[in-house]
Amino acid sequence: MNIMQPVPKAAAKQQHVIDVRDLDKKFIDAVFSRAETLGHMRNDSLKGKSLCWVAESASTRTGMSFKAAITQLGGAHDSLPDPEHSSESKGESFEDTIRVVGTYHDVIVIRSKDAAFPSNAAKLSSVPVINAGNGPDQHPTQALLDAFTVKQKLGTLEGLKIALVGDLSRGRAPRSLALLFAKHYPNNEFVGVGPEELWMDTDVVEYLKEQKVRYSEVKRLTDVIGEVDVVYMTRLQKEHPRKGLFGVEYPQLTLELAKKLDRHALIMHPLPANRERELPYSIDGLPQAIYLKDQLRAGLAVRKAILQELLLDK
Ligand code: CP
Repeated sequence: MNIMQPVPKAAAKQQHVIDVRDLDKKFIDAVFSRAETLGHMRNDSLKGKSLCWVAESASTRTGMSFKAAITQLGGAHDSLPDPEHSSESKGESFEDTIRVVGTYHDVIVIRSKDAAFPSNAAKLSSVPVINAGNGPDQHPTQALLDAFTVKQKLGTLEGLKIALVGDLSRGRAPRSLALLFAKHYPNNEFVGVGPEELWMDTDVVEYLKEQKVRYSEVKRLTDVIGEVDVVYMTRLQKEHPRKGLFGVEYPQLTLELAKKLDRHALIMHPLPANRERELPYSIDGLPQAIYLKDQLRAGLAVRKAILQELLLDK
């Protein structure tokens, strides 16, 4: 989609989910509280409401869980056709498209290639806009579901040591998780793990420093595996090409390595995963492996809770 000339006027009073640093703590607490009971619950709390999924890049989990969330709460969903089949092919502007979508729907959920797309849409939209992943920048609802999962499983979001492993530079999931924790749960320690070429970008490292979060970086998982409460694996983000990565040694959580984890520790991954690279099938059966269980289920519960918080009258 062609992003041009966002209208400078701010939208009417409303809450969007664009950047984890802009989320209100009360909003997060309310989302977590709602998510505890929502799970696979079906009710009519969002009857009469509808969601529009706007995607210019691929998604399985985020799109499907948002659609399942609103459907299971009695609402409906639609998707903006891809550019070839929408009036974008006839030259309709980004501004007009967002106004159309916001006229027909109560919430717009955007998966974009361009980092500025969701925030530009929020400036134009008369209804809440949710950033469902904007290029390599952020994925706020992933960070919320990840933090919720950690809280559910470990009972706290304080005093933890969390290893973020792999492509931290281009991975919006680890970036968002680090920023969310730094803003709202700074009393934790993070360690970045992987080749130096993929270490966390300076904007995140500076923010962690500003928020006084302990952060260090190591090249090998074996250096920290026995000390961490959470090992958060990530995929090499080939869809955001970068030179100078040929031949870099990408960390893999082998069964042998995973067995060195503490019993209470969590193995997480936002998925999709490369099963021949960072996350072999052989570790799926470990009690610590929650990426296909609690973490995946939390996606539905937390997105239901977000929709309720944004759409229900208080
Ligand atoms: N974790 C995640 O965002 O998955 P999808 O890209 O499949 O939505």
